[in-house]
Amino acid sequence: MRRSFVCGNWKMYKTPSEARVLARDIARGLRGDDGRVEVAVCPPFPAIAAVAESLRESPVAWGGQNCAPQLEGAYTGETSAAMLVDLGCTYAILGHSERRQFFAETDSTVHEKLEAVLGCGLTPILCVGETLEEREADRTSEVVGRQLRGALAGLPGPEIARSVIAYEPVWAIGTGRTATPDMAEAMHREIRELLATMIGEDGAEAVRILYGGSVKPGNAADLFSQPNIDGGLIGGASLTASDFLAIVRAGCSTE
Ligand code: PGA
Repeated sequence: MRRSFVCGNWKMYKTPSEARVLARDIARGLRGDDGRVEVAVCPPFPAIAAVAESLRESPVAWGGQNCAPQLEGAYTGETSAAMLVDLGCTYAILGHSERRQFFAETDSTVHEKLEAVLGCGLTPILCVGETLEEREADRTSEVVGRQLRGALAGLPGPEIARSVIAYEPVWAIGTGRTATPDMAEAMHREIRELLATMIGEDGAEAVRILYGGSVKPGNAADLFSQPNIDGGLIGGASLTASDFLAIVRAGCSTE
């Protein structure tokens, strides 16, 4: 049985002071929560320490939105997996479409980052998803399959089994256009079937596959009630405590 997981991706929003307050409000809102849904937030790097302070006594985990493939060295501007571990991070988002689009990340860079993150004991949240053009050309399966194989090929089965995958159709991110629950479920099932060919049925059944792309309080329950949708990666709606908490509760109601 997979535990539902709702993770906030704060992108390049919130200064450390603002992030401290948002994290505190989320932690307060979850007080007395039964813990059925795992909750995490991924603030910008400079805000992680402040968020960690706000969340220390809470069940909410935190993570980075990216990570260098190198373990350390003369790489100006980069942040290593060991640094994230030292800040108490549990997760690192990797291969987000904005990283692929604006920072030229390829499947092979994402693969190297996965190795670095897994090697430090962090849990990667590997993002995959097709653009509108690719969907309209009927290339969704091919693109998502290539992204998954490119990122995961050669990694040990147990490492893949403890990873989280986020299916985020690029055309649904920040646009208010969400995949219908049926559309999303079809891709999630396909992703799980592909994982089964790589690591076997049992391993694939253990992997949590999140949906991301304009998840809001109003559509979360329908998405999360699908059998292969194990929660969500939330952008815009994770920047307001009340919306984020409502999405977490939508996860609880589908258990
Ligand atoms: P969104 O972003 O919820 O604002 O669409 C999701 C994401 O980019 O992870």
